[in-house]
Amino acid sequence: MRLAFVTSNPGKIEEARKYFEPLGVEVYQLRFPYPEIQADTLEEVAEYGVKWLSERLNSPFFLDDSGLFINALRGFPGVYSAYVYKTLGIDGILKLLEGVDDRSAYFKSVVAYWDGELHLFKGRVDGEIIHEKKGSGGFGFDPVFRPLGFERTFAEMTTEEKNGISHRGRALKAFAEWLKENLK
Ligand code: IMP
Repeated sequence: MRLAFVTSNPGKIEEARKYFEPLGVEVYQLRFPYPEIQADTLEEVAEYGVKWLSERLNSPFFLDDSGLFINALRGFPGVYSAYVYKTLGIDGILKLLEGVDDRSAYFKSVVAYWDGELHLFKGRVDGEIIHEKKGSGGFGFDPVFRPLGFERTFAEMTTEEKNGISHRGRALKAFAEWLKENLK
């Protein structure tokens, strides 16, 4: 079985493949830009994207909407993470946190699968924003996010290590388990 992952982000594809290869499911990248609406939650953004795409694509597909939520910034950048990454960047976030003691944050991911019906799978990982970038792996805010209980940032981990604890890894694991049951 081949499954389209609608995303422009090759980093997300690499993470997803590790979950689906063992099931004999080949995940491929489908670059099909879709509207990402301004909404309060990742779920709403994902659901709108899926609905829009379902009117244009003929076979099953999934997408992932994720974000970084910084507690001292009341959840910012949250649903605006992609935009903020492109505009302020990591350096801008570090500046916003200068002098702030509470550096706790979490990543959340909503994986939305469409097979004629909508299926949502969610994952979250808690951690903190460190003071300077570390590591060269991963993507996005990985160099400054250190998950709870670890000494290294996501960018200092292998894809397997990150997957094992990350928001997307958790959502993809739930999706892969569901798919395994439902492919029988
Ligand atoms: P979207 O889900 O493609 O809309 O993008 C969400 C944004 O959140 C990305 O552009 C990244 O900046 C950030 N982000 C989401 N997941 C991760 C991750 O696993 N590591 C680092 N940054 C992430």
